[in-house]
Parts: sequence; structure tokens; C-alpha cells
Amino acid sequence: MAEKETFGEIRVDEPVSIVIFGASGDLAHRKLIPALYIAYAQDLLPSKFTIVGFARRDYDDATFRGMMTESVEEFSRIPVEDETVARFVEHIRYHRGDISTPAAYAELMEKFRDVETYPENRLYYLSVIPSLFETAVEFLKQSGLIASPGGSHWTRVVIEKPFGKDLESAETLNAGLLRHLDESQIYRIDHYLGKETVQNILSFRFANAIFEPVFNRGYVDHIQITAAETVGMESGRGGYYDEYGAIRDMVTNHLLQLLCLVTMEPPGDLSAEAIRNEKVKVLNAAKLDIRKDISDAVCRGQYGSGVDDNGQRIKSYCEEDRIDPNSQTESFVAMRLKIDNWRWAGVPIFLRTGKRMGKKGTEIAVQFKVPPLQLFQQVECEEDVCDITRIKPNTLIFRIQPDEGIFLKIGTKRPGMQFVVEDVNMDFSYSGKWNKSLPEAYERLLIDTLHGDSTLFTRSDEAEAEWRVVQPILDHFDKLKPYSYPPGEWGMPEADWLFHGVEGQWRNE
Ligand SMILES: NC(=O)c1ccc[n+]([C@@H]2O[C@H](COP(=O)([O-])OP(=O)(O)OC[C@H]3O[C@@H](n4cnc5c(N)ncnc54)[C@H](OP(=O)(O)O)[C@@H]3O)[C@@H](O)[C@H]2O)c1
Repeated sequence: MAEKETFGEIRVDEPVSIVIFGASGDLAHRKLIPALYIAYAQDLLPSKFTIVGFARRDYDDATFRGMMTESVEEFSRIPVEDETVARFVEHIRYHRGDISTPAAYAELMEKFRDVETYPENRLYYLSVIPSLFETAVEFLKQSGLIASPGGSHWTRVVIEKPFGKDLESAETLNAGLLRHLDESQIYRIDHYLGKETVQNILSFRFANAIFEPVFNRGYVDHIQITAAETVGMESGRGGYYDEYGAIRDMVTNHLLQLLCLVTMEPPGDLSAEAIRNEKVKVLNAAKLDIRKDISDAVCRGQYGSGVDDNGQRIKSYCEEDRIDPNSQTESFVAMRLKIDNWRWAGVPIFLRTGKRMGKKGTEIAVQFKVPPLQLFQQVECEEDVCDITRIKPNTLIFRIQPDEGIFLKIGTKRPGMQFVVEDVNMDFSYSGKWNKSLPEAYERLLIDTLHGDSTLFTRSDEAEAEWRVVQPILDHFDKLKPYSYPPGEWGMPEADWLFHGVEGQWRNE
């Protein structure tokens, strides 16, 4: 076995069959199989387990194992040992079948009669397009491949994102899944919740008595959440993205989950239900901060063409592969929300995400109010021009990626005869404290599903509450052309207007 690089994860003891629907696809190749390999190499998987790859392509076990070996070699986060990979892939089988055909399940059932090879606890991972989620679950149920909860063996089903396209489709999907499964068997994945820094938001808030008292409208001026990417359309992703866009791809899951964690009330305990109850409450209180018109609160953009640092032309969104040349899908969105509860009333919350932005990074910035009395004046000089400015507010930054950590910007006296206050960072970075690579989100989440821990997965009412927040945007803007913005910038000036009446601006750092 490889030297353990774990962070206290608990080994799974129960034998299990893990069936990956869509096993020949990109997610399985880049994330799922490497994550399972790492769990295996770190001795976190049970001694008896079988991974079944389910897809239509015509492979046999040997070919599929060869492909999975390549996946591990290319994408494992930890050093790969040939011997360990060889032993790992012996646990892998391939099942050729079409998800929409009952025969595929009958054949799977036939294989499952060999309970020595295929343990009766079953994890079904639906790594396929959303239109196949319900079909797969329905046929699994009809074929007797789903155990009732509370029996001697368990069945759990992981549902990939996107969970629906709008509120109505999310409700329909929930109803369809819940016809065949109990809520406790469904694991709606949002891989952001598997990230170490995202989970750390809860420890930071609720394990440190000094911060929680100031996390409210009395002290916080506003909150900004940004998820920026520098890439445009990754190869092959165009078709999916053009149908969904930035709001559906990023806001209804990742950004709203970050919002929940940073604004929810303390849960009574750390159980999945207690945490999810608090998240649902805050989502139900979150709304677009509309004054007169929805465009006061939302700004959508699409990148135009440009030139990169090497003088190479950058394609516009509409010129990308598998994108409709007349597409009105947004590749950028910024919005201003409010949370109508006692803690956050009157505190604007800004969310922003986009492709082809100035810098890659995901962060939450909590900006505090400036001190009530400006005792110090700050002098800022650039060459021979000096400005006297107000003291800058404290900002607490949760950096999700890259360079995961937490930073607090505070004003400090600059050495010298005068009282000049300068911004400095108090920082904690994971890489500085722990000199090993952090587990990938999928590693953590897969192990959680095997333990039956749904804390980091989205509950049905939570998924619907997320859609309820953005549904007014979808209703209003879906048929409208977004603004254009240049690639490599932070969006467009129209997104700055969302800060009307607020002492602040987007942190483009
Ligand atoms: N890739 C990512 O980074 C990523 C990130 C987040 C979420 N996701 C989500 O994960 C899911 C999978 O994404 P992906 O990128 O892996 O997609 P993909 O590369 O297009 O793979 C889709 C897989 O589904 C299989 N498939 C399609 N129709 C099938 C059918 N009727 N019966 C059996 N198998 C079928 C395909 O295999 P055959 O053609 O051999 O049947 C293939 O293995 C999607 O819901 C996506 O939104 C992906």
C-alpha cells in the first residue's frame, strides 16, 4: 500500500458493489476512478468491493481495466504504484448496456446473483446526462435492484448535477426519484461541498467564538461570492453549457451552497438533517434585491472575441465549438441578493461567476463596516501624487481555490513618525500548515456515500429552494441577449451598477 496521506478518514468496512453508469465518460475517467483508486491505495475501501462500469460502448473487462489504469495514471493526486493499480483494477468489471433498455438491468441482475463477487450493498453512481437519471432509477427498481431502506443491505444512488433546469423540472425530477427511492437513499452531489475550505467555513464560524458575534447586519457591510474561470469552453462541453449557462451551471448549486454556509444559523448539532435544515431556511429567506426592476439586481454577460498576451485571437463565446452562433446564453452573471431574516436584513449579498475572466479563483469575501469614527487618515501616494483616503474596511476572505485558506485584511500602523494605517493580511493557508495535497472533493464525497453520510449532499427541498432563488432571473432573462464583455476582464461595467448605495466594489484581485 502507498504511504498514507489521509486526513483521518475512516475506513469503509461493509462490502459493496459500486455501479458507475456512464463509466466510459469524462467524469468517471478524470475524477471517479482516480478517487476510488486513492481510497483503495490508502486502505479506505473494504476488503470486498467490486466496481461495475456501465455504458453502451463495446468493451470487455480487460479493455475497460486497461482504460481505468490509464485514468489512474493520468489523474491520480498521489503517486501511482503499478502493483497497487494492478490489484485495484482486478476489482473492476464492465457491464455493457443501454440505460433505457430493461434487458440491461435483467443482465445486471443475473450477474448480481454471484453475491461473492458483487456484494449486496449497492452504490449506483449516475454519471450520465440528467434526462437519464429517472429512467435508470425506475428500471433499477423494476428489476429488483433497489433494496428497501432499513433492510439487511442498503442501496444508495448518487445523482450528478445539474439537478433540473429550472424549478419545475427539479420538482418533477424529485417527484420521479422519490417514487422509487427514499430520500435517505438519494445523494445529490455538489462537488463544491467536498472541498476542504468549503467545509472549513462551518468550523471557522462555529468553532471560534470571536467571529460569530460579528457575523450579522450590525457589523457586516456586504458579502461577495465570486467563482471566476479564465477558460472559455473546454473541449466537448459547449453543447451542455450552451443549454444551461452560468446561472444554471454555477449559481443554483455551487454559489448558493457557499452562500448557505456563510450565512446560515448555527445548527443544533452536526447531523446531516440539522445542517440541511439551516441551509433550507436561509435559502428560503434569500431573494433578488430588486428595487424597481429586476435589472437592478442581475447582470448577464457573454464574452466577445479578443486577443491574448501572445497576440493570438481569442474566440467569442458564439464562435466556440458546439455553441449556437446566435446563442443568448450567459457565460457571466452577477447578482445582488438580500436575505430577509433578522441576522442579515439590509446586508447586500453579491454573487458573480463567469468564464474568460481576469483571473481564476473562487472566494467568499465578507466585508465589515468601517469604524464609526475616522480617527486616522490614510495617505496613499503614487509617484508624486498623494491622496488622503478613508480607512479601508476589514475584509474576511475564504479562498476556496486556488491557494486554499482564510485571510483577514486589517489596518495596521505603518512604521514611521506619522499615523498612517496600511492594509495587511493575517492569513492561514492550507499549504503552509499541512505539507500534503488536500483530498479531491470526489474522494471525500465517495467515501461519505459509502458510509451513508449525506451531510455534504443536497436534500430535495434544498435543491428546490435553490431554484426558487434564481427562477425570477430565468423567467425574465432567458430570451434576452446578454451584455458583451471582453475576454480576460472581470465582466462589464454594468455589473458594477449592482453596488448602488453600497460602500464598495467588486474585489478584482
Ligand atoms: N465531466 C465533468 O467534469 C463533470 C463535472 C460535473 C458534473 N458532471 C456531470 O456528470 C455527468 C456525466 O458527465 P460526463 O462529462 O462524464 O459526460 P460524458 O463524457 O458525455 O459521458 C457520458 C457517459 O454516459 C454514457 N451513456 C450515455 N447514454 C447512455 C445510455 N443510454 N446508456 C448507457 N450509458 C450511456 C456514455 O457512454 P456510452 O456512450 O458508451 O454509452 C458515457 O459513458 C453529467 O450529468 C454531467 O453534467 C460532469
